[in-house]
Amino acid sequence: MSLQDKVIIITGASAGIGRDLAARLAKEKARIVLAARSEDRLQQLSTELSEGGTDVLVVRTDVSDPNDLSALVEQTIERFQRIDVLINNAGVECFCHFEHVATDEILQTIETNLTGAIVLSRLVVPHMLQQGSGAIINMASTAGKHCPPFGSVYGATKAGLIGFTQGLRGEYLDRGITATAICPGFTKNGGIYDRIVQATGKKTSLALGGTSTKAVANAVLKAIQTGPPELIVNWPPVRPAMVLREIFPRIGEVLTTAVSRRFLRKAAEMSAHKTDGAHSENSDPSTA
Ligand SMILES: NC(=O)c1ccc[n+]([C@@H]2O[C@H](COP(=O)([O-])OP(=O)(O)OC[C@H]3O[C@@H](n4cnc5c(N)ncnc54)[C@H](OP(=O)(O)O)[C@@H]3O)[C@@H](O)[C@H]2O)c1
Repeated sequence: MSLQDKVIIITGASAGIGRDLAARLAKEKARIVLAARSEDRLQQLSTELSEGGTDVLVVRTDVSDPNDLSALVEQTIERFQRIDVLINNAGVECFCHFEHVATDEILQTIETNLTGAIVLSRLVVPHMLQQGSGAIINMASTAGKHCPPFGSVYGATKAGLIGFTQGLRGEYLDRGITATAICPGFTKNGGIYDRIVQATGKKTSLALGGTSTKAVANAVLKAIQTGPPELIVNWPPVRPAMVLREIFPRIGEVLTTAVSRRFLRKAAEMSAHKTDGAHSENSDPSTA
């Protein structure tokens, strides 16, 4: 299926995976709506894409604000009169010692990663139903398939996105709308993982695999074109371990914890230091 002239909304388009995805979709001659909070970065990307001939709309959007989400849909319809693809990509990391994480950070993570995607989809689906077609792509994570230690809040939002995707499919597939959960592993070339590596000086274990923003963009393209339920984007040898986890959850738990604990503990400690002790209203430094 050609993506030429398809109207595609990408949230979280100002950096990392979303930015690379926008560039990739521009090459397919799609019409692109860039949404995120950093308007200057979106404008800069818009200029680059427009110079290449892409029709781009920038809408400054905080996905945790329902008014911004309504404005995003209204401005897209006003400009293009349709929405073919919604990519719910905006996300924030939350790797922390759960007993110290601040309530505000929990809520912000859920509102950005999960509630925002659900509310925006709710606003977009009526337009897709009217058109008789559409694709919703939810950027989940392998953390939503099996949540690692220190990632409970983040993993919960990603597991929520996977469940949300399944429900949408069951309801709308026979009315022309597909929904796909993309589940990348740790992703190189910009984004959350790279920032953790830079800050901690540590990389993940080889056993966890990994991927690139380019591979994630390719998976999104495939999802738009073929509408599968879910795509796991990770190093192929990691797949048997994921199947094993489904069949033998206790063995899977031991493996996941063993390979991710050290790296993510470091990320959690870094996060606690970043917020300079203000990470929690209940924090007990002796246990950090
Ligand atoms: N990198 C990885 O290893 C990895 C692995 C699996 C899944 N993922 C998922 O992939 C997605 C993109 O991650 P990334 O690594 O590219 O992260 P990133 O580089 O930190 O980019 C996150 C994007 O989300 C936007 N964003 C954050 N909060 C927002 C809000 N309230 N409203 C609107 N936009 C918001 C940011 O833009 P502004 O700050 O300008 O708003 C930015 O454009 C996320 O959902 C993440 O969970 C990433």
